[in-house]
Amino acid sequence: MPYLLLVDDEEALRSVVAERLTDQGYQVVQAASGEAALQALEGFAFDVIVSDLRLPGVDGRQVIDAALTRYPGIVAIVVTGYGTVKDAVDLIKLGAADFIAKPFQFDELMHVLTSALEQRRLKSENAYLHQQLDERFGLGSMVGKSAPMRALFQLIETVAPTTATILITGETGTGKEMVARAIHQTSPRHRGRFVAINVSAIPETLLDAELFGHVKGAFTGAVAMRQGRLEQADGGTLFLDEVGTMPVALQMKMLRVLQEREFERIGDTRTIKVDVRIVAATNADLMKMVREGTFREDLYYRLNVIAVHLTPLRERPEDIPLLVQRFLEKLGSERRGGSFLSAEAPRAQAEDPPITVAQEAMRRLMAFPWPGNVRQLENAIERALALLGGRTQIEAADLPPDVQATAEVITPMLDLPAEGIDLPAVVAQIEKDLIDRALVRTGNNKGAAARGASLRVSRYQPRS
Ligand SMILES: Nc1ncnc2c1ncn2[C@@H]1O[C@H](COP(=O)(O)OP(=O)(O)OP(=O)(O)O)[C@@H](O)[C@H]1O
Ligand SMILES: [Mg+2]
Repeated sequence: MPYLLLVDDEEALRSVVAERLTDQGYQVVQAASGEAALQALEGFAFDVIVSDLRLPGVDGRQVIDAALTRYPGIVAIVVTGYGTVKDAVDLIKLGAADFIAKPFQFDELMHVLTSALEQRRLKSENAYLHQQLDERFGLGSMVGKSAPMRALFQLIETVAPTTATILITGETGTGKEMVARAIHQTSPRHRGRFVAINVSAIPETLLDAELFGHVKGAFTGAVAMRQGRLEQADGGTLFLDEVGTMPVALQMKMLRVLQEREFERIGDTRTIKVDVRIVAATNADLMKMVREGTFREDLYYRLNVIAVHLTPLRERPEDIPLLVQRFLEKLGSERRGGSFLSAEAPRAQAEDPPITVAQEAMRRLMAFPWPGNVRQLENAIERALALLGGRTQIEAADLPPDVQATAEVITPMLDLPAEGIDLPAVVAQIEKDLIDRALVRTGNNKGAAARGASLRVSRYQPRS
């Protein structure tokens, strides 16, 4: 059952067309303005968009362009009036499937739709599809256009130039290390080094020496003097990953580094001063650890000067199409063995058709809760590419089984705002709407509407 977004500001025409498309088996969502259409596209991967070009405010051209940019696999039909055919042609160059001039018979529209869907099915083998990542939505190599990601980019740009210590929190795979690198890259320290140390990956006994370095003979095995990571990061940024796993003894030494920017190598009495920006990350609840006594409170406050929290991917599904495109570009060129440094790469890339994602697959990607966040999404795309063989389109069947099993959304027209909805009221509204439509269809015959002429349900009684 194809999902279709119908955009037209003419109420009468729109509802008639919608009604008839529904009869033909389409799942139709209506948008009365360009703005409403853009909003609907944000959250849902429609199979088809049919949009009038002339709309007040955001016009149809922008709507179609946005739909194609975001979902290269969408079938876009442009509805034109007098004098806008040239615009329709431009849109077809951009990847729109077809156009239809107003006024039209419903059957003409059905014909255009059916053949466009068929064409798309045939062409999906090697179609050229407009594929382009909107560079406005990102920072460095990070992409995202959801409200939390835009706020994050702004925060990074604001705090990066300072020397303030930053604590990044977020679930596994949300991009904490990426953010740390972006902070370094955006800061005046980008000429210095970005030195990462994963506190949890280094045995407790070695962590000291790893961070602070040691002199020759400081301990068994210390055959030569060695600089620690702190010294290596002088003039740059030290990234303390998984800081919550730092042993308590070391926490105290770290506190001094944060307060005085100085320390001694192990086995040495000479004090070393460093100019280093510290960025720490954790997926543990440090505040809780403070209460339990496993993390020093003073260190917590020294680290948490600026708190950067990463939103889980399931709370920002509108970033998924952008992320998927980024991964297709990145993994696709790796898959072809194309290195950006190799002279062969540009030619090889120009010849290979871009890989696209079927809208049904995109819907499942956007509905899945992604406990492993962005990393898990990236792995799913990598897996799908491995299963692709000679095809150029990722289908739902190429996704991991748990993603494939995600329930299809049947109410794409309903927004689920972050602040929540009044569920009984919304359900009641849907019920009333359906009953009203059944009554219209049966010529206000309550009995017929209820008995099954229109409403095939048993528990509803017509309302008086
Ligand atoms: N906004 C983004 N844009 C593009 N790629 C992203 C984004 N966020 C995360 N990634 C990618 O997702 C993967 C995981 O990111 P990263 O390693 O930074 O997560 P993390 O929060 O440090 O994870 P963990 O808690 O497991 O250490 C990386 O391959 C990274 O490139
Ligand atoms: Mg990490």
